[in-house]
Amino acid sequence: MKITVIGAGYVGLVSAACFAEIGNEVMCVEKISSKLDTLKKGESPIYEPGLSEVLKRNISENRITFTDNMDDAIHFGEAIFLCVGTPQSETGKADLSQVEEAARQIAQMATSYKLVIEKSTVPVNTNKWVKRTLERYAKDGVDFDVASNPEFLREGSALEDFMKPDRIVVGVESERAEKIFRELYKPFTDQGYPLLVTNTAAAELIKHASNSFLALKISYINMVSDLCEKVGADVELVAEGMGLDKRIGRQFLNAGLGYGGSCFPKDVKAFVKIAEENGLDFALLRETDCLNEERRPKFIEKIEEILWINKNKTIAVWGLAFKPNTDDVREAPAIDIVNALSDSGATLNMYDPKATETFKTVVPEADNMSYCANAYEALEGADALIVLTEWEEFKEADLAKVKSMLKLPIIIDGRNLYDPKEMKKQGFEYYCMGR
Ligand SMILES: NC(=O)c1ccc[n+]([C@@H]2O[C@H](COP(=O)([O-])OP(=O)(O)OC[C@H]3O[C@@H](n4cnc5c(N)ncnc54)[C@H](O)[C@@H]3O)[C@@H](O)[C@H]2O)c1
Repeated sequence: MKITVIGAGYVGLVSAACFAEIGNEVMCVEKISSKLDTLKKGESPIYEPGLSEVLKRNISENRITFTDNMDDAIHFGEAIFLCVGTPQSETGKADLSQVEEAARQIAQMATSYKLVIEKSTVPVNTNKWVKRTLERYAKDGVDFDVASNPEFLREGSALEDFMKPDRIVVGVESERAEKIFRELYKPFTDQGYPLLVTNTAAAELIKHASNSFLALKISYINMVSDLCEKVGADVELVAEGMGLDKRIGRQFLNAGLGYGGSCFPKDVKAFVKIAEENGLDFALLRETDCLNEERRPKFIEKIEEILWINKNKTIAVWGLAFKPNTDDVREAPAIDIVNALSDSGATLNMYDPKATETFKTVVPEADNMSYCANAYEALEGADALIVLTEWEEFKEADLAKVKSMLKLPIIIDGRNLYDPKEMKKQGFEYYCMGR
């Protein structure tokens, strides 16, 4: 099938690469010229495990092309995936201007039937606005269907998630649209991956409801974690005990610094707003969001309780990305934590396996903030180490070496990477979350 993908971000690029990988012809349009230049060289502008290899293979086999020419892209595919950003606006609502702009461009340029697919996360009933926009700006006699096919990939394991999905959800309003999806996803359904067909509103809701539920789970365990600290229980064991119940499950019960990234914070807020616009107060999610926002200042307090005065102390920071296996730092807890520590007069030696360059664009190097080439370099002369992202590399660190390089053997771990008993045995002063 010939497919057009609008937007070569985390979702657009992974979707384009994976659709090509299963044999489709894909044209991906991106308006940021620096990203496009990188893509045209056959390289990936983002770090995502396995993505570069899949891109290279499909570019060389002519199944995927990149362009900034919207007209070419719109004429190319019958199915057009909208993978543009839907960031948070000042009010907390989703800012849908990129979706509207893309829909308008499709309407103005299309000369034959197009299935316009919302892959971006959008509030329920956005499809009605997309449809209205297409109809308003369309050339005479050109038909459109609008559908929702929300994306559930996780950054860090995006290709695996795309190729082996828990479920594929498509929201459609016509048989023609459903038929296109069934053909497109046949390689997946043939392997037994479930395809759920709903109407468009339900598909839009499934995405927001799923992300908000996962965020809720994270805030829930963080609250339990705080209680564990008060009563002397171990949140890891509590989570294990809860997670063994199949109705609950162990995933997303990791106490720590709360959720970040480009999805959960904005999606929870947007979902609250949609409820509000429909006369409902989603207090449960407002509280989820509040609890999450408290995690970062609470961690700073924890650091101050341990180090007392940060001024003139050197702190090693391991982990800047919002989660492991990505270079994405959008809404990363590290941004707030690093800035607060810097404001309090600490000198910071920071290291992340992949996200240093993206983090530098948000927190530039300064007299008291330097970026290190490897994890151990960050420890040199440091009064303490703080861990902000659960990269495997940190879990596997040579702890004897860590101890020998730190000025004081203090580790403040926001991600519960190590076993407290083992750390004590090794002579560390080890602080973690809810244990
Ligand atoms: N990042 C994730 O893990 C994830 C997972 C599931 C769903 N989503 C949702 O998918 C959507 C995209 O997320 P993302 O992280 O890929 O965003 P992103 O910001 O990384 O990518 C969006 C891209 O679209 C491009 N773009 C916007 N308008 C364009 C236009 N008219 N023509 C050409 N290019 C255009 C932008 O330049 C940008 O490169 C959002 O709605 C997000 O909530 C994201």
